[in-house]
Amino acid sequence: MNCTQRPRRLRTTATLRALVRETELHPSHLVLPLFVQDGTGIDVKVDGLPMVHILSVDMIAPYLEPLLERGLSSVLVFGKIDPKHKTTCGTHAMVPDGIVPRSIRFLRATYPNLVVMTDVALDPYTTHGHDGIVVNGHVVNDATVDLLSRMALMHAEAGAHVVAPSDMMDGRVASIRSLLDEHRHVDTAVMSYTAKYASCLYGPFRTILDSAPLFGDKRAYQMDPSNVREAERELMLDLDEGADIVMVKPAMWYLDVIHRLSVMSDRPIAAYHVSGEASMILDGSARGMFDFHTAVLEATTAIRRAGADIIVTYFAETLLEKGLIR
Ligand code: PBG
Repeated sequence: MNCTQRPRRLRTTATLRALVRETELHPSHLVLPLFVQDGTGIDVKVDGLPMVHILSVDMIAPYLEPLLERGLSSVLVFGKIDPKHKTTCGTHAMVPDGIVPRSIRFLRATYPNLVVMTDVALDPYTTHGHDGIVVNGHVVNDATVDLLSRMALMHAEAGAHVVAPSDMMDGRVASIRSLLDEHRHVDTAVMSYTAKYASCLYGPFRTILDSAPLFGDKRAYQMDPSNVREAERELMLDLDEGADIVMVKPAMWYLDVIHRLSVMSDRPIAAYHVSGEASMILDGSARGMFDFHTAVLEATTAIRRAGADIIVTYFAETLLEKGLIR
């Protein structure tokens, strides 16, 4: 057979394949969601998502240090809030010695090289599970933005390097940026959840934080899964408002969005491989449909190939412990 083009030539050995590999995944690209709660001696594995641990501050070190030794460099802190601290307006989010600021102070004091990011949103703190102040069943934008900005400032004061608003209110990046600057936190970066879709894939996360909305859904603020031009519009706004990193969430069903934004953005793109995506991989592999570690590596590589510089993933431990990446 006369065939000049034989792409298989470059696939014949592992070394050749490595030589021509287009997408690299490195531990420094990963961000691990870190769930913290009040108390002592707490290290609870989440039902159905066994790689997710909920930790009291004193239990962070034994969990985190093996991962840091394998090259993990960033965490995104989420607070699991005691029901007795939940209110209609989520006021506990503004308490300077709450679980999140205390965790930030611990992480900064203990691990000088760790990048500490925090999720800025009210849903873990509200009795109704919505991401803001609710009036007549509607999440009020501007009053919510004021609270989120104060929350972000408090995280910056506790030492967060990066604050990440995940609420999808309009104008919150500009408001957070200006409040941070006013208080001389000019070096605290804002990672905006720029294109956060109203997805069913947050189900397991809401079970972890007990934050599922009590009424209605989040479609009046999170994005319609049908839209991609709208994601571009959100991108332009967030870039204009001063976001340092822009995020797409979820990841695997939104690879086109990751790609479109990565082409348009002059700033790094993050993608959040969310809890429902992680459960699909766990469940499929538990049923013997495919190999777990191969699936984790393939999924994470695909997110990066689509254009994500940074990947927030529950599989950081999986990827690092098995030496799937190094
Ligand atoms: C809070 C927030 C959510 C997630 C991250 N930040 C839930 C939501 O918006 O309802 C979901 C993450 C995941 O599913 O892994 N606003």
